[in-house]
Amino acid sequence: MSRSAHPAGPRHADVVPEGHYTAPPTDLNALDSKVWAQTVTRTPDGVVSVGGIDVKKLAEEFGTPAYFMDETDFRARARAWRTAFGEDADVFYAGKAFLSRAVVRWLHAEGLNLDVCSGGELTTALSAGMPADRIAFHGNNKSTEEITRAISSGVGRIVLDSFQEIVRVAHIAESLGKRQRVQIRVTVGVEAHTHEFIATAHEDQKFGIGLADGQAAEAVRRALALDGLELIGIHSHIGSQIFDMAGFEVAARRVVKLLAEIRDEHGVELPEIDLGGGLGIAYTSEDDPSEPHEIAKALHEIVTRECESAKLRTPRISVEPGRAIVGPTAFTLYEVGTIKLLDGLRTYVSVDGGMSDNIRTALYDAEYSVALVSRVSEAEPMLVRVVGKHCESGDIVVRDAFLPADLAPGDLIAVPATGAYCRSMASNYNHALRPPVVAVRDGEARVIVRRETEEDLLHLDVG
Ligand code: LLP
Repeated sequence: MSRSAHPAGPRHADVVPEGHYTAPPTDLNALDSKVWAQTVTRTPDGVVSVGGIDVKKLAEEFGTPAYFMDETDFRARARAWRTAFGEDADVFYAGKAFLSRAVVRWLHAEGLNLDVCSGGELTTALSAGMPADRIAFHGNNKSTEEITRAISSGVGRIVLDSFQEIVRVAHIAESLGKRQRVQIRVTVGVEAHTHEFIATAHEDQKFGIGLADGQAAEAVRRALALDGLELIGIHSHIGSQIFDMAGFEVAARRVVKLLAEIRDEHGVELPEIDLGGGLGIAYTSEDDPSEPHEIAKALHEIVTRECESAKLRTPRISVEPGRAIVGPTAFTLYEVGTIKLLDGLRTYVSVDGGMSDNIRTALYDAEYSVALVSRVSEAEPMLVRVVGKHCESGDIVVRDAFLPADLAPGDLIAVPATGAYCRSMASNYNHALRPPVVAVRDGEARVIVRRETEEDLLHLDVG
């Protein structure tokens, strides 16, 4: 690739984004329930509301940009997963998607468990009263301090990710006079159809221990031999934002095969398998995710069938959905600042946030939808690119979207399905202040994570 400067065409590398976007929707004012949280609707005066409060009031009280989370929807989705999987399975919400103390309390109340992957997430979970035995601790490079804290606080399971960690966790558990329940995370060699950065079960990557070359069997051998460990099962997570159940099917089959090999070699039937998270959600009307009951039914059937043919007792299944629970429950509210019409090229709509509150578009080419929410409009659809206010041309929130042609500075627009991996991956780039998360329910709104202030920035900067 040439890195020397040359006269630019109108578009970078002169790439015309034909075919990247679809035709405009028939009704720009409509809100597709696939991508918007459950209680989102338009009030008779045309303003969008959530949890019974309209977005103009929310913007006045909490400012923009801000994430608004539909608590009713969050709880309903958590409950749907819990109910779908039933009493003989466990649902661990993946805290990396979004974690706060309020969320921990909702999960606890709805009977879910929690997957954490850092000391910070562990502290948040414990400080909001999640019982330690309902917490799973993950990560491919947990520190000695994190492992010590996890074991001392009594976490229900640690998911072991490497040979070194098997010994490390065993050693720390023994030195604390404990026997730690653990699972071993294996990479099953499945190619999940998702972005490379969020696919995790092909062999060439940093997570887990490979199944194919006998490494996983060796890890089991070592774990079973250590007094500090109680090996309760095998873990597999194949990736994220996946729609096709075929990958889970292959993963389940390979994990059950390993369970049978363990029984044959060691005479033990491990009682649990965890099939990870990764179920996709609708970011645009084109996406068609499965419902929790369909997923639960499919996974139960696969595991039961495979165990029957291997003559194994069916293990207790657990899953770790993050995005599928929290993703659809929130939207990000922005105020339009400037609109730039580049004749014959593109229209740029700049909002008061950007890649600091949603890095997913820049990082994964993620697609989002957007709507004008502070009023209705009968104007013609206009193809736009919604961009942020950061000093970077990759600062794109929605690559291609239709908004009404009479859009003007001061209008409020909202991007749905930003509950997962937006606030949790937010940054202070350009010293942006990370937006608040406001939970809305039954006509009441309350801040669950407050907006950062410039004082917060100065507190961290010790001069
Ligand atoms: N379990 C394990 C072991 C995981 O690594 C993950 C996600 C999950 C469960 C939850 O996956 P979910 O159901 O939320 O897809 N930042 C990326 C996603 C990274 C996912 C990392 N691990 C994104 O914004 O798409």
